[in-house]
Amino acid sequence: MSSYVIGVDLGTSSVKVLLMNPEGKVCKEISKSYPLIQEKHGFSEQDPEEWVEKTTEAIKKLVDEFDGEAADIKGISFSGQMHGLVLLDKDRIPLRHAILWNDTRTTEQCKQIYDLVGEKTLLEIAKNPALEGFTLPKLLWVKEHEPETFEQGEVFLLPKDYLRYKMTGHLHSEYSDAAGTLLLNVAEKKWSEEICEKVGVNVDLCPPLVESNECVGEIDQYFAEATGLMSTTKVFAGGADNACGAIGSAILSEGTTLCSIGTSGVVLSYEESGERELEGGVHYFNHGKENAYYTMGVTLAAGYSLEWFKDTFAKDEDFEQLLVNLDEVPIGARGLMFTPYIVGERTPHADANIRGSFIGIDASHSKAEFTRAVVEGITFSLNESIEIFREAGKTIETVISIGGGAKNEEWLQIQADIFNAKIVKLASEQGPAVGAAMLAAYGLGWFNSIEECAAVFTSQEETYEPIPDNVKKYNEYYRIYKRIYSQTRELNESLSELR
Ligand code: XUL
Repeated sequence: MSSYVIGVDLGTSSVKVLLMNPEGKVCKEISKSYPLIQEKHGFSEQDPEEWVEKTTEAIKKLVDEFDGEAADIKGISFSGQMHGLVLLDKDRIPLRHAILWNDTRTTEQCKQIYDLVGEKTLLEIAKNPALEGFTLPKLLWVKEHEPETFEQGEVFLLPKDYLRYKMTGHLHSEYSDAAGTLLLNVAEKKWSEEICEKVGVNVDLCPPLVESNECVGEIDQYFAEATGLMSTTKVFAGGADNACGAIGSAILSEGTTLCSIGTSGVVLSYEESGERELEGGVHYFNHGKENAYYTMGVTLAAGYSLEWFKDTFAKDEDFEQLLVNLDEVPIGARGLMFTPYIVGERTPHADANIRGSFIGIDASHSKAEFTRAVVEGITFSLNESIEIFREAGKTIETVISIGGGAKNEEWLQIQADIFNAKIVKLASEQGPAVGAAMLAAYGLGWFNSIEECAAVFTSQEETYEPIPDNVKKYNEYYRIYKRIYSQTRELNESLSELR
């Protein structure tokens, strides 16, 4: 009889459910998508019930179709889009739609947080700057704009923690996702009463904290009936998508770096302690591995820029078709550059107002050149995070690449040439879902450590070396790319007033 674990990745555009065996083989995979609700400029929301519905459908399909018995599925764990606010009432029902990580309505609340807490104290405790995407500004926005809703709030949860609550009936958060709220004392691993008091949020709104690999219960009867899972299946807390991406790519020791291109794009680097001084230029979060950390730069619209481009200008093509001619276009797309600021930016420019540009459009440019410019622009943006890490003294010679950016060979070579680093493609580019499955496998005691689990669950498939000639050419384009932000900032500020 075989045994299996399920890794659920609750993403921004879809939920992915992965069935893995103790040898680390992906035995089945189901994905279901759901839309963003964007009622106003800068707003980005989702209906938490839709996450539950789609995940239920995906797990049911997986249980129905896989080659084994439901009783063989021993454990399940989660990876989730970070920062989203799910506010529950006393009956634990969501009071409104979830406000997501890529929602930028909260610039005013970020200023208030600095006024009330002080920038220095915030960095000392929460290790991160006040950014529109984080959870606390969203909570303060609801308090100010929807006071009646806020008054009824009994507890808040992060997206995957709500999903897990609906499967088990137990309320928890875990450190890697709690770190993205701005309410956690990141080094001490407890909710910060000081921040809560200063911003006027009752600390009781924060759910109990556990480790990512902790068993928080079993599947409840109702969810078991809806999916076909057994109610003896053990449920493990899971982690933030970036923490799970790190686990699923074996970013588990100092000196390892990850580039993950999903809806957002991140460059993430392992940290042994929560005490490094990076002054908020990049994010600093708790890892899904116990008592470890990571630092990370974020491009808000990475895969999302390409998705936007495809949906707007090549609706009938899939990504493979869109990227098929990528290698036929020369480096620099014959003088066409793109900045991926289509929903604002985080690293290195924390700016909710900035918007994207194509610079250098020529009448002879074709769709293939625009596509290459988008891919290069996303990669240039991620390189700005790599540069911050290098300037802080980190050595980045090898980068593990996962997500959409790791599905296309030419894009992997572009990453090698722009980052000037060896790029490693793993056998599975699904880092977050694999990381979630690993948390269940380790939590079940199949392995003595998460590192031992990673040695079985992850393997390198291909490497891409930087080509010196390409590195040189990209350097010249990158220097121009970096000037676009400052030269378009004021224009975008004026335009945002007219929007
Ligand atoms: C990280 C962030 C995004 C989301 C995407 O700070 O906001 O990477 O986690 O799901």
